[in-house]
Amino acid sequence: MGVAAFALRRASPADASAIAHVYVNSWRTTYRGLIPGQVLAALDELKQTGYWWRVLCESSRGCGAVVAEGRFRVIGFSAFGPAREEGFSRCGEVYTLYLLDAYQGCGIGRRLLSASVDDMAGAGYTSMCVWVLARNPAREFYEHLGGVELSSRDIRVGGRRLEEICYLWPDLRRLAALERR
Ligand SMILES: CC(C)(COP(=O)(O)OP(=O)(O)OC[C@H]1O[C@@H](n2cnc3c(N)ncnc32)[C@H](O)[C@@H]1OP(=O)(O)O)[C@@H](O)C(=O)NCCC(=O)NCCS
Repeated sequence: MGVAAFALRRASPADASAIAHVYVNSWRTTYRGLIPGQVLAALDELKQTGYWWRVLCESSRGCGAVVAEGRFRVIGFSAFGPAREEGFSRCGEVYTLYLLDAYQGCGIGRRLLSASVDDMAGAGYTSMCVWVLARNPAREFYEHLGGVELSSRDIRVGGRRLEEICYLWPDLRRLAALERR
């Protein structure tokens, strides 16, 4: 796909419904066949809007979301903040990184990750991690950008046991420098 025109900016609570739209649609295209269909069918943009509104109302430096905006609408976003796993000192985490299907593979994911890294580095985080389903092809995206496989865990989604992999970037400044090249 050719390069889409887009701009990145920090998300505000007013973006909650646009983010919910991207989230629900990207889940349905990404996880078809990976996550039980009833879980994907039950995703609700209105409920997601409420969730993202609360998240964005509480955002601060190093914790929040960045959106990629195309000509007419938000086409992708990343959300990040402190690592949720215990024992990860000064480690940030990208909680979610989703693009609408039509905008994948043209460099927007890399730019969203880069903007998230800059925000977290500015807030004093020195490393970063991300959890990804073991069967999600996005693993190769994270490996391509230097993520090191650290650990795995099992989660249950809709009654099915799924494996998640944790990727770590031990030196956030190094990742930020790589991303600026
Ligand atoms: C994963 C995702 C965010 C990546 O964003 P993207 O815009 O498609 O990726 P980019 O075009 O920025 O790719 C950056 C680099 O990673 C590589 N890459 C991206 N996806 C890849 C894949 N699945 N396999 C191998 N390499 C990949 C690209 O070739 C590119 O390399 P280059 O810069 O050397 O040319 C996006 O594809 C997406 O939203 N996927 C569905 C949702 C998802 O799985 N999110 C992650 C949940 S943890």
